[in-house]
Amino acid sequence: MRFDTAAIFGAFSMALLAPSVLACERECQVNVSRAFADKYEILSNQYFTLLNQKVEASFFYGIPNNPLSETEATDVLKTMSDSITGAQEAWSKTIFQTVFDTIFKDEPKFKGDCNVPHRVNQPPRGVNWTMPDCHNMDYICGNPPSICHFMPMIKTRIVNKLTAQLQDRVNGDDSDVYVSFIGPALQNVLGGAPRLTAHLKTLHANLNQILESVRDELATFADDENWKPEWDMEIKWLLLTFP
Ligand SMILES: *[C@@H]1O[C@H](CO)[C@@H](O)[C@H](O)[C@H]1NC(C)=O
Ligand SMILES: *[C@@H]1O[C@H](CO)[C@@H](O)[C@H](O)[C@H]1NC(C)=O
Repeated sequence: MRFDTAAIFGAFSMALLAPSVLACERECQVNVSRAFADKYEILSNQYFTLLNQKVEASFFYGIPNNPLSETEATDVLKTMSDSITGAQEAWSKTIFQTVFDTIFKDEPKFKGDCNVPHRVNQPPRGVNWTMPDCHNMDYICGNPPSICHFMPMIKTRIVNKLTAQLQDRVNGDDSDVYVSFIGPALQNVLGGAPRLTAHLKTLHANLNQILESVRDELATFADDENWKPEWDMEIKWLLLTFP
């Protein structure tokens, strides 16, 4: 009996004394995903801005003897531009969940035990993890230093997914941006300016060509020239504040 008690007590104190490492819990997962998502939103907004600029520059391309007054033409471009804003807002709403799933649900996911093998010591409450912790936590698991360590891999995973999704959104006239936003705007425009109806084919071809060129530009989405180096550090410092 005495031996059992001692054994249990011993095992219990070992468990208490063994340095164990906590995970990036819900708030950490949400805030870190949000931090990434905010940056990717800045970068994807640039492509909607580009799309808007291209529509403004080329919407009427190839239509001879512009059949519209200046005011009418301005209204038409405003309708098209508003539809692109709508497309941008719809897209932006999806970024957070994509980022979250990419880090915490896709394999290999940043979850699970970080104690075996032991790499870093959990700092006391209220004290941040350190950059050396980020360096030392060299396998994939659920704590903030692991996410910090594998930041380049995480970014690659997110960028691959977001690029594919964005390209899909603008991929021709059966894409979401066309079907849900630009196409209906074009219908509105034709309703308001029937003189354009004769040029529907040209307008449609212009829009398709514009979407294609934006899709091509997306090949460099969030690459090293666009992703600001200081964003890595911002996200790392945020990560390291979570227990
Ligand atoms: C996490 O995000 C929420 C909502 O923006 C904020 O209120 C909270 O302070 C953040 N926590 C940390 C530790 O940054
Ligand atoms: C933890 O890191 C945050 C963000 O870098 C910083 O503002 C804060 O002062 C740090 N806290 C401590 C206790 O060092």
